[in-house]
Amino acid sequence: MTSHPTIPEREAAAVLQTYGRAPVTFVRGDGCRLYDEDGNDYLDCLAGIAVVAVGHANAAVAAAAARQMTRLVHVSNLYYTAPQVELAERLTALSGLDKVFFANDGATANEAAIKLARRWGQKRRGPDCYRVVSLLDSFHGRTLAALAATGQPHKQETFAPLPPGFIQIPPGDIDAAAEVMGPETAAVMVETTQGEGGVVPLDADYLQALRSLCDSRDVLLIFDDVQAGLGRTGSWFSWQQLGVEPDIATLAKALANGLPIGACLSKDRAAAFDYGDHATTFGGGPVITSAALAVLDEIEQRGLLSNSRERGAQFVSRLEAVEGVVGVRGRGLLIGAVLESDRAAEVTERARGNGLLVNNVTPNTVRFAPPLIITADEVDEAVSKFEASLG
Ligand SMILES: Cc1ncc(COP(=O)(O)O)c(C=O)c1O
Repeated sequence: MTSHPTIPEREAAAVLQTYGRAPVTFVRGDGCRLYDEDGNDYLDCLAGIAVVAVGHANAAVAAAAARQMTRLVHVSNLYYTAPQVELAERLTALSGLDKVFFANDGATANEAAIKLARRWGQKRRGPDCYRVVSLLDSFHGRTLAALAATGQPHKQETFAPLPPGFIQIPPGDIDAAAEVMGPETAAVMVETTQGEGGVVPLDADYLQALRSLCDSRDVLLIFDDVQAGLGRTGSWFSWQQLGVEPDIATLAKALANGLPIGACLSKDRAAAFDYGDHATTFGGGPVITSAALAVLDEIEQRGLLSNSRERGAQFVSRLEAVEGVVGVRGRGLLIGAVLESDRAAEVTERARGNGLLVNNVTPNTVRFAPPLIITADEVDEAVSKFEASLG
């Protein structure tokens, strides 16, 4: 009897091998649950890496996208479509920023932010004002400029030479920032919580000092809210609980609950693009922006900002009591459980075997970033399954 090749075997043959995938093929999702091809169910505490905020197969988002799919899918940005404009209005009203450029994911939202900062710098101080200062252990994406801003040398080395004009400094060190910010600096770009860097929240004091430094040196402050934004940390935008506001901010991940979208938001004072300076074929199309509007409605109507804070606090207090966990970091429902040794990969694998999805964001840290709709019972279930996986 000839056996058919499995999905992993076919993937190995047909897909460029850039991902070390877990040996599981998912076929269905519902709320905080995922189901594999053998019918096993999993409590999803990763949400597609902080993406599926309003739950898998969300009915309101599906209906909004389906309605728009049968009406009008794409016309390009040569013309107007109403959902894009409505989403821009909602995001500016919620964020306090003034204008939006729609991109396609986190990396292209950050590319837009970097280009916007360079354009601003060029108009403000001439062609020598282009530098973007970012932080070590940051993550801003895999396209070349976003990678150049990413403070992880091991991800950069194999793609040298990267675009010039980027420098990284240690997070939390305001003196280091003051030292590197000269007239050639157009912007400082940071995550308020470094997600891929191990779920490391930066202090509000440090972020406020960075804001003051940017003001005194006439430099833009960019917050990469791709992972931390849209309720993930308990407020619409991560900075809204930190007493500090950026000039430019980027969003992606949760914005359309799993459909690809990115956004670069800007204060009027930083909105330096002129016609033709930046563009994308797909960005802000009617289907994706209709889906995103439904996501914002869901977050609002289901009280998911307070759920993020409350369930986040529940996670932290429960995880702190788990033997083998030596620290718990994060804000809202973006949480890192620090283990006493570099066992995060092994624990993540065992958790999957126990029906819990999390990820080993660094060698000793397991990340929890569940859908924002997670219930108190599901948090208890997650922590029990995690505890059982520490073994
Ligand atoms: C803070 C941050 N910025 C940017 C990105 C890149 O987003 P994408 O993978 O959608 O390009 C990520 C992805 O994890 C991220 O966490």
